[in-house]
Amino acid sequence: MTLLHLISSHTTLCKLLAELQAALDKKLISRPIIRDSEARQLPYLQACIKEGLRLYPPVTGMLSKQVPPEGDMIDDKFVPGGTSIGWNSYGMQRQKDNFGLDADVFRPERWVDEKNEAKLQRVSDTVSLVFGAGRFGCLGKPVAMMELNKIIPEAVLRYEWQTINIERPFEGVCIGFFLHEGMWVRVEERKPHGQDFVDSPAVGNGRLSNGSAMLNDAVTA
Ligand code: HEM
Repeated sequence: MTLLHLISSHTTLCKLLAELQAALDKKLISRPIIRDSEARQLPYLQACIKEGLRLYPPVTGMLSKQVPPEGDMIDDKFVPGGTSIGWNSYGMQRQKDNFGLDADVFRPERWVDEKNEAKLQRVSDTVSLVFGAGRFGCLGKPVAMMELNKIIPEAVLRYEWQTINIERPFEGVCIGFFLHEGMWVRVEERKPHGQDFVDSPAVGNGRLSNGSAMLNDAVTA
């Protein structure tokens, strides 16, 4: 879903490509594949990944747990022992009082523009809950983050992507996790780094150097 959001948002993709290109120019990104440690230094990339996890937490089931026999206090309320409790990951990540009125919108800028450190920490902690927490937390989180830190930048640096059906880009169901199919895309190898998006709106006229328009040009034209 992160990739779909990126290829469907011209401005966002161009900003990400501009950040990646600047890092490539300064030799801050290894070739042929970016290192996890390098990706972590790129704020807009991190914001895109975080925003993707927030809007579509891969695990959405309630992941019920049982309160220990002595009971426990949750949100200042006593919950008796043996009670089955769960949480709604999808709903939590779209709470408007936490993320603002545009909580349903893919907007990575919310992570880079926020100046209030305490608020940033709170919303970051909320997003990290997509991996669970405490002793039940995801054992694969470092692996999952490393994969995202590599696949997202390499996918957009190496290829140009275009969804085939912009009205219904995929068919999907949610059964405690998302199952997507039929996300047909047209993929073309991107020209050598730096030559194909120098004219992007972030730095220019929004056309690829081969003259073709990107997806949102077709939608907004
Ligand atoms: C973005 C990708 C991933 C997300 C969002 C995710 C999320 C989660 C969540 C929510 C749980 C359950 C927490 C609970 O029961 O409350 C979990 C458990 C687990 N995950 Fe992941 N996971 C991801 C990727 C992975 C990967 C790549 C691996 C393996 C390399 C992995 C291995 C595990 C294991 C072993 C557990 C069980 C931990 C335990 O019960 O002790 N996960 N994950």
